[in-house]
Amino acid sequence: QQLKLSLEQIEKGGYEHFMLKEIFEQPKSIHDTLRGRLLVEEGIIKMAGIWDHLERLNQAQKITIIACGTSWHAGLIGEYLIEEFARIPVEVEYASEFRYRNPIITDKDIVIAISQSGETADTMAAIKMAKEKGAFVYGICNVVDSSISRITDAGSYTHAGPEIGVASTKAFTSQLTVLSLIALKLGKHNGHLSNQEFMKLITELDALPKKVEEVLESTHEHVKEIAKHFIGAQNFLYLGRGYNFPAALEGALKLKEISYIHAEGYPAAEMKHGPIALIDENMPIVIIAPKQGHYDKIVSNVQEIKARKGRIIALVNKGDTQVASVADFVIEFPETSECFSPIIASIPLQLLAYYIAVYRGANVDQPRNLAKSVTVE
Ligand code: AGP
Repeated sequence: QQLKLSLEQIEKGGYEHFMLKEIFEQPKSIHDTLRGRLLVEEGIIKMAGIWDHLERLNQAQKITIIACGTSWHAGLIGEYLIEEFARIPVEVEYASEFRYRNPIITDKDIVIAISQSGETADTMAAIKMAKEKGAFVYGICNVVDSSISRITDAGSYTHAGPEIGVASTKAFTSQLTVLSLIALKLGKHNGHLSNQEFMKLITELDALPKKVEEVLESTHEHVKEIAKHFIGAQNFLYLGRGYNFPAALEGALKLKEISYIHAEGYPAAEMKHGPIALIDENMPIVIIAPKQGHYDKIVSNVQEIKARKGRIIALVNKGDTQVASVADFVIEFPETSECFSPIIASIPLQLLAYYIAVYRGANVDQPRNLAKSVTVE
């Protein structure tokens, strides 16, 4: 019997959707982002775009990160990384807002534009405005030779490979990887990061592809089962603290765009300033609770949710008992440095959104009303 496969099926490589294929590609895409740049044995990060402009970058009065959607979420984590390790003030703006106000940008500023497609209209317009004001613009793009990569003064490609699914997955984790490399390199050269700390962090960064593979293997089937319980949900809350607050925003965006379930991400501590009023037995709450990063505070947030009968899906590190004993569903992921935990935590969140959407019969790769690159306003 002759096996007939369409071109699309071949491109999907045996996966039902491009999104699932791209989720599973992440050990490789992160490895590709690091390849040739992270040289652990030599104790260096090689990035020509950064090296060639090191002085200008390290003397920046401030860095403004501009982006949209998922890339904006990566930018928020970039802010935490750059401020923590390079001690340069960072602001993160939606490109669509930045372009229509009159931001204070001078020739002492650096603007970092993040875009998977490199074609997003608002990001393009914001870059043009920043350049007119004299800023040095650094691009982080996935698509090689895209418009944004051509109009920026310098940049780094993410090298995640083509992303077909409208919902960004592997491009996001590669953006986080590039931002980590940049923050660590700047911090090393401007003296804010000790050699010992730098070595510890790059060793951890180097271990990420393996840990991402591990989390894919250990959580895939389990998350698929958990997803079945939430097919009928109408709302979701995603909570995280510190580095994992933007990861919560990204988890919520993934769910909304492909499953059409309303979801909101919040810093866990903001819960009591409003969203706590929404919590009852019908409200699923995804909470990212790794050991490092305000764990004790997260434990009390989880207890507050439980007291109001919220249905808790907790993402915890392996061996966790405190949060796990209160949560309704537990997803374990391997431990890493706090600053890299969003890269690992994002994987089960992508899978959760994916399976809920699949069970709801949604068109995962081509969600309604959405385009892969938003080239118009
Ligand atoms: C991500 O899942 C979305 N489809 C969307 O938010 C996207 O990240 C945004 O449009 C920005 O695109 P870009 O990275 O190509 O500029």
